[in-house]
Amino acid sequence: MTLVSDELHLKSEELNNYWMPFTANRQFKGAPRLIAKAKGMYYWDDQGRQILDGIAGLWCCNVGHNHPRVVEAIQKQAGVLDYAPPFQMGNPLQFELANRLADITPGSLNKVFYTNSGSESVDTALKIAIAYHRARGEGSRVRLIGRERGYHGVGFGGIAVGGMVANRKMFGTLMAGTDHLPQTWNLKEQAYSHGQPAWGAHLADELERLVALHDASTIAAVIVEPVAGSAGVLIPPVGYLQRLREICDKHGILLIFDEVITGFGRLGTAFGSQALGVTPDLMTVAKGITSGTVPMGAVFAKDEIYDTFMSGPPHMIELFHGYTYSGHPLACAAGIAVQQVYQEEGLFQRAAELAPYFELAVHSLKGAPHVIDCRNLGLMGAVELQGRAGSPTAKAFEVFLKCYERGVLIRTTGDILAFTPSLIVQKAEIDRIFGTVREVLETVAA
Ligand SMILES: Cc1ncc(COP(=O)(O)O)c(C=O)c1O
Repeated sequence: MTLVSDELHLKSEELNNYWMPFTANRQFKGAPRLIAKAKGMYYWDDQGRQILDGIAGLWCCNVGHNHPRVVEAIQKQAGVLDYAPPFQMGNPLQFELANRLADITPGSLNKVFYTNSGSESVDTALKIAIAYHRARGEGSRVRLIGRERGYHGVGFGGIAVGGMVANRKMFGTLMAGTDHLPQTWNLKEQAYSHGQPAWGAHLADELERLVALHDASTIAAVIVEPVAGSAGVLIPPVGYLQRLREICDKHGILLIFDEVITGFGRLGTAFGSQALGVTPDLMTVAKGITSGTVPMGAVFAKDEIYDTFMSGPPHMIELFHGYTYSGHPLACAAGIAVQQVYQEEGLFQRAAELAPYFELAVHSLKGAPHVIDCRNLGLMGAVELQGRAGSPTAKAFEVFLKCYERGVLIRTTGDILAFTPSLIVQKAEIDRIFGTVREVLETVAA
């Protein structure tokens, strides 16, 4: 079946002008991988080759690709209202989506601030945290604590609290007034953990050390991913997030969960917060909010935080922050349709039911060549490889390319392979993903 029209084939000289993000541009342009179409669990490239998507696009297409209900909602909305100004004006869809989201968020995280990406959500949440303390008369609380190996997008705030060195080292002094908790993954203590590792809750106590160093009166917020995704699926130790919550409460520090990946069913509940039993004060999301179809992100704030801003003369703007495309009509239409699909198809529950099968599949690679760890939680999984001496990332990248040639899309970070299929994945597709990876691992040199 040829799914792709001739216009979609590009000649090599036509690849020059696009500077691709987080991509080895020269490698890519020498051997392009051009995705032309999608449906359900599958992509088709520009040659018409079918590719099983093992990573939900980029941890985002949770309802599967081109879901008819979502396609229809976006198409319809484009013909009704293309754009409306979001400052001092609104559109009905923004409120409808916010109400639907507030229905599924934990605790009093009912107030929704729209952004267009995870990076914007993170910078928005950091700004809200600092401004919140100021509004309460604690303007000295400006310090932001992140974590080593954290990924919080690519804005200056996000890379300052983030902890992936390659994303930080080229960009100068970043933002002043940040510090970092230690990362939580330890191969010796945690290798081949099924779900949350037993070892490591004590690493949260490092927050007490940072408080002792800086004093609580200077610290606005701590931001962590409930499960660190982009650094290679680092699962929080049992009790770790609970301990962070306790220490934040003790010192009046806001806890921010970056749920850009763990939001919208990835861990078998609406948010990772619910699966892991800890409620933050602010939560950042993106990706699954529209299942990747139209760019959108959001910050969820506790009612108390929002209420703190609602003082002063009512005609005054309370928060001097927002984006031209905050709550864009197309994104809201997509978001509403996606939330309906999650609910009507029971996809969060489906993810929870599939998680044990997925866990066995991830761990089936124990003992395969090069593998030094397998880990999983919900529908997030990773397999860590022994890197090639003197050539870090090369082995995993080779595995990625060979899987792609065999029609399976996975993701790599460093020498770690990551797996995050859409919540509609079938068991046979899980088998195919991990079966292909095993086959490929057997062909790769040490
Ligand atoms: C936890 C987390 N935060 C923020 C981001 C940034 O999102 P975006 O790429 O939409 O800016 C990502 C992206 O993967 C993420 O995983």
